[in-house]
Amino acid sequence: MTTTSAPKVQNARANMVKLTVRVKRGAPGAASHWQEYKVEASPLDRFVDVLNHIKWTQDGTLTFRRSCLHGVCGSDAMRINGRNQLACKTLVADLGYKISAEPMLGYPVIRDLVVDMDPFFGKYEKVKPYLINNSPAPATERLQTADQRKRFDAGTKCILCGACTGSCPSIWANPEWVGPAAIVNAHRFIFDSRDEGAAERLQILSDRTGVWRCRTIFNCADVCPREIPVTDLIEDVKRAIIYGEPDIPNT
Ligand code: SF4
Ligand code: FES
Repeated sequence: MTTTSAPKVQNARANMVKLTVRVKRGAPGAASHWQEYKVEASPLDRFVDVLNHIKWTQDGTLTFRRSCLHGVCGSDAMRINGRNQLACKTLVADLGYKISAEPMLGYPVIRDLVVDMDPFFGKYEKVKPYLINNSPAPATERLQTADQRKRFDAGTKCILCGACTGSCPSIWANPEWVGPAAIVNAHRFIFDSRDEGAAERLQILSDRTGVWRCRTIFNCADVCPREIPVTDLIEDVKRAIIYGEPDIPNT
């Protein structure tokens, strides 16, 4: 394994490329502006490596979030070359020699690439993203068939990065709307055969800031780093509201 992959890495290092990285910088009370950095990187570097390099060697004031560096925590979602992406899952090779980085649209900017996620998590909490079941607990597990488990599988993959919500024109126009990520996480429980809170959540999502603000634009599904069919899940919830109950397999 090591003997076959090492030469490739060496070649990539030999093929270092010169990048021009433009970052939209901003701070509370100050107008935002673009700042340009010149960096050398390997095509196999991730964009988060490039940002780290800038921060560590050129400009310690450059501010961005990152944590796991492996596409799991969702903290480094940002608008790269005009598209919301995780910086740790985006290779330089896929971005070209001139790269732009901005904070995601639709969120208040705290500083540079860091946005305020509090409103986002407020909407997430609003849809009650946890199992609701007030029936007496069985002696063993609450059993579920494979098909019933599959019904809500897509939503379980969400890492709450906010890329979908920040790419939605409906959010740009109306920051009050609950947004795709909250609906994905509501779907995860509405369509769980063990849950008893569907009616409550559907009521919440049928108000004027709920699912009907979705215009089926598909930006959300297009940018999701977990490849969740976000728009399809929103449509599932719309149908559940219209028919008065979620469509869950009986067995
Ligand atoms: S649905 Fe996808 S894009 Fe939206 S928050 Fe979850 S993982 Fe991120
Ligand atoms: S740093 Fe955790 S998803 Fe990128």
